[in-house]
Amino acid sequence: VVEDCAQAQGAYVGEDPVGSLGAVGCFSFYPTKNLGAIGDGGAVVGSEELVEKVRQLRTYGWTEPQYAEIENGRCSRLDELQAAYLNIRLGVLADAVSARQRVAKRYLEELADLPFDLPRVRQGNTHAYHLFVIKTDRRDELRQHLAAAEIGTGLHYPFPAHKQPGLAANSRTSVALATTEMLQSKILSLPLFASITDDEVSAVVEAVRGFFGR
Ligand SMILES: Cc1ncc(COP(=O)(O)O)c(C=O)c1O
Repeated sequence: VVEDCAQAQGAYVGEDPVGSLGAVGCFSFYPTKNLGAIGDGGAVVGSEELVEKVRQLRTYGWTEPQYAEIENGRCSRLDELQAAYLNIRLGVLADAVSARQRVAKRYLEELADLPFDLPRVRQGNTHAYHLFVIKTDRRDELRQHLAAAEIGTGLHYPFPAHKQPGLAANSRTSVALATTEMLQSKILSLPLFASITDDEVSAVVEAVRGFFGR
């Protein structure tokens, strides 16, 4: 199992942090992520053997200096400046995730009675709330309503991967992904970031409630 933890730094399944569950876990340090760099970056976690292979692949497939033995090697090192910055950010990751969870708690409580689906978390697990995605049949109308109130929202993502021409060629799905396609028109990410203020959260709640006449 390859875990895609790109959005999930700081999330747990029971006592286990994401990335520790599968054979390999892949993290993204894209700047907007919970643990974001000041440029692109990422990390792979797994067994020592697997990680050693990844180390070789990220440096041209070298098994020894300047000897490319492994196919599909590339130049994909995390540069030192990013690593230094991420080391500092790692120290405040738990606080940043807690801040996101506090915002999510407000949305979950203050929007609970509205006619749409809120994110759900299985008992015993913790959500890192990189995104706060609701599902509604009135997604586009709600999005416009919020935009008119100068509240930005996001679509994560507007097109499923298997429907994107540049990716479809490598897509290995032989079946229709009906659930993915159905969700594509319903998902909406509400504003959520560690430094959002209480007043900003209140403004989002008020605008969303206003849209549904509550
Ligand atoms: C769920 C998920 N997987 C993978 C990626 C890719 O991460 P990166 O851009 O660091 O390669 C992203 C980035 O947005 C993501 O959200």
